[in-house]
Amino acid sequence: MIESRFFREDCYIGGDWIDGPERIVVTNPASGKVIGSVPNLGRKETDDAINAAHDAFLAWREKPAIERANVCQRFYQALMDNQQELARILTVEMGKPFKESMGEVAYAASFFRWFGEEARRIYGDVIPSPWSDKRIIVTKEPIGVVGAITPWNFPTAMIARKAAAALAAGCTIVAKPASQTPFSATAYGVLADDVGVPPGVINIITGTAAPIADTMCENPKLRKITFTGSTKIGKALASKAMQHMKRVSMELGGNAPVIIFDDADLDRAVEGALISKYRNSGQTCVCANRILVQAGVYDSFADTFAAAVAKLKVGDGLMEETDQGPLIDELAVRKVERHIEDAVSKGASIIAGGNRHAKGFTFYEPTVLRDVTPDMLIARDETFGPVAPLFKFHTEEEAVQMANDTEYGLASYFFTKDLGRAFRVMEQLEYGMIAINEGILSTEVAPFGGVKDSGHGREGSKYGLDDYINTKYALIGGI
Ligand code: SIN
Repeated sequence: MIESRFFREDCYIGGDWIDGPERIVVTNPASGKVIGSVPNLGRKETDDAINAAHDAFLAWREKPAIERANVCQRFYQALMDNQQELARILTVEMGKPFKESMGEVAYAASFFRWFGEEARRIYGDVIPSPWSDKRIIVTKEPIGVVGAITPWNFPTAMIARKAAAALAAGCTIVAKPASQTPFSATAYGVLADDVGVPPGVINIITGTAAPIADTMCENPKLRKITFTGSTKIGKALASKAMQHMKRVSMELGGNAPVIIFDDADLDRAVEGALISKYRNSGQTCVCANRILVQAGVYDSFADTFAAAVAKLKVGDGLMEETDQGPLIDELAVRKVERHIEDAVSKGASIIAGGNRHAKGFTFYEPTVLRDVTPDMLIARDETFGPVAPLFKFHTEEEAVQMANDTEYGLASYFFTKDLGRAFRVMEQLEYGMIAINEGILSTEVAPFGGVKDSGHGREGSKYGLDDYINTKYALIGGI
């Protein structure tokens, strides 16, 4: 139980709070203690939520853009006004340091502000007609009811990135959060009430993923599915959704390279790699997964980086000094252990961390491995934990080849002071997002998304609205 009026243990459907006999128990990963529980809703309630969203859609889509924009702006303000309280819920259920949770709530709010502004700029088109007595008009229309399935690693921001775009475009939404972190999601029901979102425009439903996702795919009133999560689940969901011709947006896994060239500003590279790797304990799909360092600076980078990592403070996210919280669960810790064991058995050495943390539960030491090679598991598989593997390369061509040698293509990073190299490498990297001399690239104003097995569709930015909009062509004759 968390003392907050935003802490709700029920679901929000059609403006009403709904309970259910079966419950999913939620624990704090930092202590293993039970925080509360949410209903394990299924097919019937998912259909109820879709029906509510569909009824609301018919009125919501008719609202002038300025009214939808105003609702988004009020959402922005409500998130910011309650930043601390919401961040606390986030940290308690997810584990990330409170300062990162504060950042995430602000990040979530920024999507409502951004898409509120964009709501008024959804322009159509007039196309020069090939006939003198006919006109061609293109209008942009909201897709309809959107089903959003969101992950545990950014429980506040990932709903916002989808819901804000949907609302701005004139869509309504049924959101299903991850069962590990439902309370940041149910808080949106309270926020929706506070800011006067009409009933049914936002619906939050908790429960086991499969029946909810299947119902979203099958119900004809739901027109689009947006998912953030693993590539494996994303592929299964997308293929099911395509059987019913739903539009899909998939923001899936990554295997982000951070390339450090000989000519890089090393202090900046250390700082960038550190923030990219250890943000959210390495549990983001844009976290550095492979750090590729050019031979000439390999040893000095490895030493400085390992020394910086050793200083990170591990602990409960609510403690002010904490830099790294716990991992989400025991399975996550086992994956980290598997990656380290495999790498060490094939010749890598541990130069920082390498063990479960003395604090117990799912705390793990921030870890650095050196002499990592492409044949190791960690080179191919997303670790989603606080382990930085250092690979060595000799030439620019080799670095690009190594960076692209993955089925993923979400985020990538590199550090260089050479402008020509910056352009060459940027153009050759097969990734949806590239940061040069920076370790964090997420912002509401830029298009977030990947290529290859990292999915498709873009979130945030002016491009983020496209996924929620249908293009309609009207031919007017007899003029
Ligand atoms: C994610 O890991 O899914 C999102 C990370 C971000 O938005 O920065």
